[in-house]
Amino acid sequence: GCELGPYIEYDGILFPILPIKTPLEQHLNNIANLEIRPDDILISAYPKSGTHWVWEMVRMLISGSPEHIKDSKVGRMLEFKETKTIDDLPSPRLLNTHLNVRHLPKQIFTKGTKIVHVYRNPKDIAVSFYCHATGIKRNNGYSGTFHDFLDMFLREKVAFGNWGDYIKEWEEVFDKGETPIKAVAYEDMKKNPVKHLKEIATFLELDVTDELCAAIVDACSFSKMKPIAETLKEKAVDITWKEGSSIFRKGQVGDWKNWITVAENERFDEFIETKMKESDMKFIYTL
Ligand code: A3P
Repeated sequence: GCELGPYIEYDGILFPILPIKTPLEQHLNNIANLEIRPDDILISAYPKSGTHWVWEMVRMLISGSPEHIKDSKVGRMLEFKETKTIDDLPSPRLLNTHLNVRHLPKQIFTKGTKIVHVYRNPKDIAVSFYCHATGIKRNNGYSGTFHDFLDMFLREKVAFGNWGDYIKEWEEVFDKGETPIKAVAYEDMKKNPVKHLKEIATFLELDVTDELCAAIVDACSFSKMKPIAETLKEKAVDITWKEGSSIFRKGQVGDWKNWITVAENERFDEFIETKMKESDMKFIYTL
């Protein structure tokens, strides 16, 4: 359809229809009360910021091997699973989420869970988000133009809430200084992956060699990871995605220049300036 969605609006956020049986409000309540373990690790990111890439690299860091995952059931998005499934995951759990801070399991903050926060420039996010919305099979995907989609993005009518509000909520967690959190920019990860992966390892107190970090970065390069990860059931091209579409689309910094017009770029800059007035976040638009 031309409309994005269907969505359920709850607590000021547009949620996509999640692939679970529990109604949304109950599900969010279950997530809020999820039992957190001392060795849980959380990856948080607004959609299309490189969540899958960083998740797989961190999973390899933890496992100590640059071997790709073969069973897609061992984790991934917190909100896309029944909490029972999350409860049944073996330790150590590497959880992954697009949820706003206020919807996270409460124990994340009382138990000092380590969080890796991935962020990306919003222009590339908007492009990636559009390609995701058009590429999925569900409801035959979004059929509007990129320009329609961008308008919705800037009017803050896309899934998982407003990009700027999301970023600001996470920035507050950072500023409070009460939570062990490591922020990493998608663009920095692209530019200098080994350095930033090592920093993540240090943050997670994982004793890894430079060789392992380099091997992981290599195994997770866009061209090597794409064909392997696309065969996993949940990411399967034939089930979730239309022919020619995938979550592994282009994997570059600055593709927005091929999509966003000069006029739209001005509007986008104004949006960022207004929205992020009180924020210290800096975004990288080109490498
Ligand atoms: P593009 O659509 O710009 O290509 P998420 O996992 O949060 O949904 O983010 C998806 C984005 O991360 C997509 O961006 C995707 O191509 C990119 N990505 C996935 N795997 C990657 C990898 N191994 N290296 C670099 N970028 C990757």
